[in-house]
Amino acid sequence: MCGIIGVIGVDDALPLLLEGLGRLEYRGYDSAGVVLVTGGTLWRTRAAEGTHSVNDLRVLGEDAPPRCSSGVGHTRWATHGEPTTVNAHPHLDCTGRLALVHNGIIENHADLAIGLVATGHVLASETDSEVLVHLVEAEMARGSTLVEGLRLALRRVRGSFAVAAVHADEPELVVAARRVSPLIIGLGDDASFLASDIPALLGSTRRLFALEDDQLAELRPGSVRVTTLDGAEAKATPLSIDWDVTASRQGGYDDFMTKEIHEQPDAVAATLFGRRRADGMLTLDEAAGLSEDDLRAVDRVCIVACGSSYHAALVAKYAIEEWARLPTEVDIASEFRYRRPILDHRTLTIGVSQSGETVDTLQGLREARALGAKVLVVSNVVDSSMAREADGVLYTRAGPEIGVAATKTHLTQIVALELLALVLAQARGTLSASEIGAVTDQMLGLPDHLDKVLLRTKDVAEVAQELAEARDFFYLGRHVGHPVALEGALKLKEISYLRAEGYPAGELKHGPIALIEPGTVVVGVATRNCLWEKLCSNIQEVKSRGATIVLVGNDGDDQTAALADHVLWVPAVEPMLSPVVDAVPLQFLAYWLAQAHGHDVDRPRNLAKTVTVE
Ligand code: M6R
Repeated sequence: MCGIIGVIGVDDALPLLLEGLGRLEYRGYDSAGVVLVTGGTLWRTRAAEGTHSVNDLRVLGEDAPPRCSSGVGHTRWATHGEPTTVNAHPHLDCTGRLALVHNGIIENHADLAIGLVATGHVLASETDSEVLVHLVEAEMARGSTLVEGLRLALRRVRGSFAVAAVHADEPELVVAARRVSPLIIGLGDDASFLASDIPALLGSTRRLFALEDDQLAELRPGSVRVTTLDGAEAKATPLSIDWDVTASRQGGYDDFMTKEIHEQPDAVAATLFGRRRADGMLTLDEAAGLSEDDLRAVDRVCIVACGSSYHAALVAKYAIEEWARLPTEVDIASEFRYRRPILDHRTLTIGVSQSGETVDTLQGLREARALGAKVLVVSNVVDSSMAREADGVLYTRAGPEIGVAATKTHLTQIVALELLALVLAQARGTLSASEIGAVTDQMLGLPDHLDKVLLRTKDVAEVAQELAEARDFFYLGRHVGHPVALEGALKLKEISYLRAEGYPAGELKHGPIALIEPGTVVVGVATRNCLWEKLCSNIQEVKSRGATIVLVGNDGDDQTAALADHVLWVPAVEPMLSPVVDAVPLQFLAYWLAQAHGHDVDRPRNLAKTVTVE
């Protein structure tokens, strides 16, 4: 999704802006631009060459004035208006002396534009964002400073925003503000920075602060003043940074996705580290904010998430209901708050989000808190917006994930949520200590199993080669194999652009089986769980209609192999934990099919890593 970077008080702003934009590329974007403040004027350049735009800016930047000390940059993920240069940010006002970048959506932009045009403003783009720069211009024309102008302009807009603005007449100032869309402030000795997420600033400073909703920041060289949009003095929230800059580099791998898939054993081990005390009892750390009394008071669980995080939540439903015997609902976050959910103080509401910034989930959790529910967030980013607002946080410890397709964060979410399920079971006495101990032993063995699966990537590559001409894929599973199937299909769609549908295998006969014909590929999650026999019958049904069958099967399981044209082998683990292992060959399958079709796996078209618009 859109990314913002800003800097003031440095020797040469352009290389820093370009480096920051490079670090924001992983969020997904289709055009980019920068503006520099130079000798009483602005210098702007923009490019709309999809995921090559930041590279193009590097070339265009060769014509930039040397050694400007401030500027802002932007990567745009198109919402309103096509991904063209004219629609790319920064946008300028009518004088060309004021520039602004924006993330989010200005919902009342059409009404505001009518008013602006009526008073003589010329809007150059089709974006919702451009109205902002003209609103600030109008306020400044009435005598406001840049800061006051932005404050007044933002009072007139509905929607979400992270904005940053510079003016040629105020070269010692970058102004920024946010509502819903995230914005991070960084402080150096003589410089100040801003960005839409942490990795963009890791190369510049580690003194980072999160701007909260409806706060405005005035960045000057080496200092930042924070106020509310109403003008009251305020403080940004200091962030604890536990990532280093090398963690967000590609290392020796061909791409981030491969790197992150191979980091999965360590990520799972890190997420489980220190959770079993010397006396054998499981514990969440203090940040989770759940005392024994809190855990016992819970009478229902409601999980809210999107995409791969939603699939991890679906696995958790099985684990929490089976182990802790608590009714558990899982909601797609974008629907959750609009269905008038029924929650109270005994409902544990869990938001699952690797970024902790996904706006659908963030807003869903706000609704849950407003209804009195206790909110726990499972997030990979320390001090993310969700983490800051929740009653407690359970961190996955996967390290930064740059590839757009979630891999290591998905696996660690499952592990964290299953750990929570065991902790709930422990508090409620629904499993004995020895039962919990046995599952925990298996959990702690997952990294070793994952190591074995990672050695088999080339086997999956060979299967992918055989399937390279296929266009239609069904992913089937039952019980916890169902979310694995959904996740496998999502991975394939995202990075290979092939039609893939994830489905509960038993439901296929109620309609979708009509789509099965010779040439359709059916990928079944056929590791041994309590519904393995029924799954096999469902596979027979599609096999007899001519589908090509690919099955994820347990090592040495000849009965499963007998049904399949191709088998993706994985070690057998406790069935409730099997999604952690079974997901991996499906990540590889998506990866190798994307390679076969020549796609960029880290930056798939149309997608954003962090989705900050509704
Ligand atoms: O940051 P989040 O976990 O909240 O993101 C949710 C989804 O946008 C995300 O899982 C998306 O579906 C991934 N690209 C999946 O690979």
